[in-house]
Amino acid sequence: MATYKLSVNNKPMTVTADADTPLLWVLRDHLNLVGTKFGCGVAACGACTVHLDGNAVRSCSVPVSSVATAKVTTIEGLSAKGDHPVQKAWSDMDVAQCGYCQSGQIMAAAALLKRMPNPTDADIDNNITNICRCGTQTRIRQAIHFSS
Ligand code: FES
Repeated sequence: MATYKLSVNNKPMTVTADADTPLLWVLRDHLNLVGTKFGCGVAACGACTVHLDGNAVRSCSVPVSSVATAKVTTIEGLSAKGDHPVQKAWSDMDVAQCGYCQSGQIMAAAALLKRMPNPTDADIDNNITNICRCGTQTRIRQAIHFSS
């Protein structure tokens, strides 16, 4: 066990955890930021996507010991009132079905739009590989275009 000082959603946080504890579990279990979801645990599904210094990462596969100097942003910190343009587009386009994977989808979309303000469908498909079992990918593409 060691103590880590993190920056999460622009706030300093201190956690005590094993060095290899995935960031996902630090966020959920230590910091009660449960908007970030567990799906597969092996960096395959994207449900756990958060931002590290603005880049989308799969937090189930990022050890807490590797993020001490990075700024972590979760779905709770993406905007003050859920009014980030991507969140608004998600709502306007009724993207969510069961909703479970959507925080990860939104975080992936927000990171993509920062890098690539007007992505094509192919850009979206190539860059956002998060899985949605409800099949909302078509609406996800529409919402990304809507918010770009
Ligand atoms: Fe992290 Fe699936 S839970 S990618």
